[in-house]
Amino acid sequence: MSETQEEKRNYLNELRLKSTYLGGEERVKKQHDLGKYTARERIQKLLDPDTFIEFDKFVSHKCHQFEMEKKKFLGDGVVTGLGEINGQKVALYSQDFTCWGGALGAAHAQKICKIMDYALRNRVPIIGISDSGGARIQEGVESLGGYAEIFYRNVKCSGVIPQISLIMGPCAGGAVYSPAITDFVFMVEGSSYMFVTGPEVIKTVTHEEVTKEDLGGAKTHSEVSGISSVTCKNEDDCFERVRELLGFIPPHNFYKAEKKWTSDSVSRENSKLKSMIPDNPKKPYDMRDIITEIIDDGNFLEIQKDYAKNIIIGFSSIGGIKLGIVANQPAHLAGVLDIDSSVKAARFVRFCDAFDIPILTLVDVPGFLPGTQQEFGGIIKHGSKLLYAFSEATTPLITIITRKAYGGAYDVMASKHIRADVNLAYPSGEIAVMGAEGAVNIVFRKDLVGLEGKELEEKRAELVRSYEKEFANPYKAAELGYLDNIILPEETRGIVYKYLCSLKNKKHYFPKRKHGNIQL
Ligand code: HXC
Repeated sequence: MSETQEEKRNYLNELRLKSTYLGGEERVKKQHDLGKYTARERIQKLLDPDTFIEFDKFVSHKCHQFEMEKKKFLGDGVVTGLGEINGQKVALYSQDFTCWGGALGAAHAQKICKIMDYALRNRVPIIGISDSGGARIQEGVESLGGYAEIFYRNVKCSGVIPQISLIMGPCAGGAVYSPAITDFVFMVEGSSYMFVTGPEVIKTVTHEEVTKEDLGGAKTHSEVSGISSVTCKNEDDCFERVRELLGFIPPHNFYKAEKKWTSDSVSRENSKLKSMIPDNPKKPYDMRDIITEIIDDGNFLEIQKDYAKNIIIGFSSIGGIKLGIVANQPAHLAGVLDIDSSVKAARFVRFCDAFDIPILTLVDVPGFLPGTQQEFGGIIKHGSKLLYAFSEATTPLITIITRKAYGGAYDVMASKHIRADVNLAYPSGEIAVMGAEGAVNIVFRKDLVGLEGKELEEKRAELVRSYEKEFANPYKAAELGYLDNIILPEETRGIVYKYLCSLKNKKHYFPKRKHGNIQL
């Protein structure tokens, strides 16, 4: 006799239950003992309650090598599906370390590809949670092919839907290239690792000895390589930060962003700003204080906080209008532009532009960092990335020169000449080819010849003063229309809000082309 409806229902429920066992009690315990959640727990914690819809729960591999037909886990080591974060739809996948260490085989890859395709077709962000031993050894080239299919989709999704990677365990070998292509990489202190070749291989090939943590832990990728966009204390912190990020970015590239709710009035008092720029132009100040003062509720999600600290990037809003902020940081290396800070800011500008997020640029930059290390390292090509990114950006661009804007860095930092929409300066603005001391030594060298001691110092000081009077102010640039206005610092919030509103319908196009050729 055939099965009754009741029996069929029971069978389905059994399978559903079985899929929740993951790789078994022992492996789940091991995962918990390491302070890590399982793939399913992560999804539950990240998403709004009761919003998860799963795909491909019953998929399993077709591999027969190494007696793999006897080893099957429902879902094949990755949980995929759809859900909501703060009411916004997302697609996601979460690798399950309790099944073959989350290693990726053909079926596992097909599941990830299916959910990525779904995300792209439906224009929702895709979130990948990585916790994997990499290519599933037993499946050989099928695993490698599976990775390549994912990489291809990462590229196809780039600039169309936001892609977010959460690294919550190992991520090694070529597998790192999927997160690398995505827009944001979140890492967790103590449990995330990313490297192309692990410590053992390095030891064999180069005889270097390095720990997993030093090679590819969260600290390394936050401070040294800049791969980590946001580094989190633990997994719970990570989910919170991802939810925060999604509150600032649109679900796809043609989405007209809604305003963020805020009770922070755009016309509120900003008097703290009156005294933030020091009288002495050589004295540093923390640009973060200015940012905090002008944005809504001091709410700033900083990206790559511990990398290339001479530039600050992150998301915020003013009067509820979401925006990206790029700001030189005079409190670190005097806010100079170097290789790392140029590349850091360039990628951020390109993300904002791809998703039409307006950019507020705060400028206090003494120029590009001189030295053989920078020149040999390719500051020419790396610096040009930021110039290219700002020049190519058609999203609204508002620039404020808070103090120094010297040399090529003046041009690069979203100047009027590369088509920023609105350029402003504080009265403390100094726009010149270079700082007074350097300029005097070059231009007035002959006037100083033959002078010594006190006489030399007095003459030099006089020349510096006259140079500063001529150039260390924003008025020449304003006279030429390179600045649209000179504003008082305490007026910043209200004025930026008005300009942002005026740029709401901005349309600016480049000539039709396949793509530009950005220096890589
Ligand atoms: C198949 C794997 C696996 C893999 C781990 N496992 N990695 N199975 N293929 N790549 C299995 C283990 O056999 C074990 O199964 C379970 O996952 C947990 O692994 P353990 O070693 O017990 O865990 P742990 O001690 O925590 O070590 C985790 C690890 C280690 C650091 C990830 O397993 C490891 O080094 N794995 C190999 C990593 C690697 O070299 N991968 C290839 C990278 S190259 P049982 O049944 O015992 O639970 C690559 C190329 C991608 O990925 C190319 C893309 C283009």
